[in-house]
Amino acid sequence: MSLYLPQRLVQCLAHRKRFRDLPSSLPPPRRVQRKIKAPAISSSEMRRSGARRRLPGDGAFILMGGLRLSHPLYPHLLPAAAGPSCSHSPVALAAAAPQTTRNMLRSIFRFLRSILPAAPARPSVLKNCLPETPRNPVAPSLWRGLQCIAPLMATVEETPEPIPTRIKGHIPEWLSGRLVRTGPGKFEFGKEKYNHWFDGMALLHQFKMENGNVTYKSKFLQSDTYLANSSHDRIMVSEFGTLALPDPCKSLFERFVSKFETPKITDNTSVNYVQYQGDYYISTETNFINKVDLETLERTKKVDWSKVIAVNGATAHPHYDPDGTAYNMGNSYGAHGSCYNIIQIPPQREDGLGELAGARVICSISPAEKMKPSYYHSFGMTKNYIIFIEQPIKMDLWKIVTSKLRGKAFMDGISWQPQYDTRFHVVNKHTGQILPGKFFSKPFVTFHQINAFEDQGCVVIDLCCQDDGETLGIYQLQNLRKSGQGLDEVYNSAARTFPRRFVLPLDAFLDAPTGENLSPLTYSTAKAMRGEDGKIWCCPENLHHEDLEEEGGLEFPQINYSRCNSQRYRFFYGCGFRHLVGDSLIKVDVETKKLKVWREDGFYPSEPVFVPAPGASEEDGGVILSMVVTPNQNESAFLLVLDAETFEELGRAEVPVQMPYGFHGIFVPT
Ligand SMILES: [Fe+2]
Repeated sequence: MSLYLPQRLVQCLAHRKRFRDLPSSLPPPRRVQRKIKAPAISSSEMRRSGARRRLPGDGAFILMGGLRLSHPLYPHLLPAAAGPSCSHSPVALAAAAPQTTRNMLRSIFRFLRSILPAAPARPSVLKNCLPETPRNPVAPSLWRGLQCIAPLMATVEETPEPIPTRIKGHIPEWLSGRLVRTGPGKFEFGKEKYNHWFDGMALLHQFKMENGNVTYKSKFLQSDTYLANSSHDRIMVSEFGTLALPDPCKSLFERFVSKFETPKITDNTSVNYVQYQGDYYISTETNFINKVDLETLERTKKVDWSKVIAVNGATAHPHYDPDGTAYNMGNSYGAHGSCYNIIQIPPQREDGLGELAGARVICSISPAEKMKPSYYHSFGMTKNYIIFIEQPIKMDLWKIVTSKLRGKAFMDGISWQPQYDTRFHVVNKHTGQILPGKFFSKPFVTFHQINAFEDQGCVVIDLCCQDDGETLGIYQLQNLRKSGQGLDEVYNSAARTFPRRFVLPLDAFLDAPTGENLSPLTYSTAKAMRGEDGKIWCCPENLHHEDLEEEGGLEFPQINYSRCNSQRYRFFYGCGFRHLVGDSLIKVDVETKKLKVWREDGFYPSEPVFVPAPGASEEDGGVILSMVVTPNQNESAFLLVLDAETFEELGRAEVPVQMPYGFHGIFVPT
């Protein structure tokens, strides 16, 4: 029975029949596999897209620039008719089959049939006539002799009690507060090892600055996942790139049956700190976020998005209005297919109400293909609009649902599919209405938006872009831990990321002429042209000169958020990538496109965090904070403080502790 039901479910799909109409025996469902599979990509299309061979050990792909894609846990495929509190993991769909009733299987079948993929959109003639986007080469130049960074991807000890640091230079006395960061810091339990960088257990870092002094502490997030893994000394919960294996102490039959058990959803929130209603949380992209005490680094509560609102997760990169209203995006899966949802969280909640009280979905956007929604890691926001980018990184829900049955990790269900274009959806965040303009671009991938603002009837959005999402799998640990020629090959096969500006003329779709540049902005070379089909095709402006290519591109962008978010701005900051992780800090002037660079050989800085100086009148009046780590055993990691205007070092606080390379963090003043 345990085997029978999932197989019958597959047969229903394969033969397009209702469950009750199936004969007692049917051939294997090969046809449906072909129908659900993405259209084949020709070799010429592969060349056009810049796609290259997979790296040894690549499965499917994911990520770049230090991001974590744990969406597979997103969840919830069964009909959500019960309202906001009703949620069911897609992973659970197959796993729960042995316990489901016949009626439930019929419901599942009707749902899956309703969301079988539609044909991809036809290529636009205008698209092919657009001036060639100034696309960046995959590997602008080859680097040789890269330093092995395996120690930055290795398990470390936590430092639960604050320790003093050794100050060199000076730390401004006005700089009072905590830089808190998160990232993976434990990569195995017992004999079982994680496969992907994003799978590691979250290690929370805290640099506390006060009167020119700095202390450091760190602590592993006490998530349910971490506690279960620790108590059993093995991996109990599947992560993005690692499938939790059945308990070896079970019998052969029990291990086999366990393939059909409901998978646990990870609460290993290792991506970023976020703030809602005055509370701080650590977030990944599943339905769980963990509320933390920034002083003790203790988890105080585990919160489930799906218990509050009808979404099955949210990104780790929300946006905030000046009054504290937060916006985020998350997927939902229900009887009518998958949806991208825009979430609004009020700045305060009434006394006595629980976490995230008052959160609501203000808009739902249908994917181009309901069974293949796009993966997204962040989104853009202006004063009046949310900009959602539907990109050709596709989540194959069928593969994700069946991943445990197939013995695959969730990442197996995610792939770069450049036969699709990238689309910009613009939503009025006050009314929730989707603007009718259909904005498209040639396929590209973005994980982090830099900033967005409105000007002269246009939305201007700046993004860190890759032309090729085929190399996302490089962030498997076996690649990151290579050395010598193998490491060089991995790096030189990876796409670089560069900042680009897109201009979306919001009213141009009405009666605009075709084939003409509709952007009125004289300060940007970005173009937007209307095609006969009514689509607006956007050709971006590169926000850099060639010298950024020599820096390996840029990721982990940050701005003076409190002053410039949703405003026209001049400066952003990020990490240069002349290695698989950031190896420099870069300041970019978007008007002149000139760079300022901080680099020290053998050291790898994290995402730069801008902290405004008290009373500063200039946009770059403040400091940049970055946690700098090193694989060298005889060197110390340190907190770096740069003058944000000159990009000169003001001081550093050295910490005699081995630290891994991490993802994101925030500064919280005291
Ligand atoms: Fe991120």
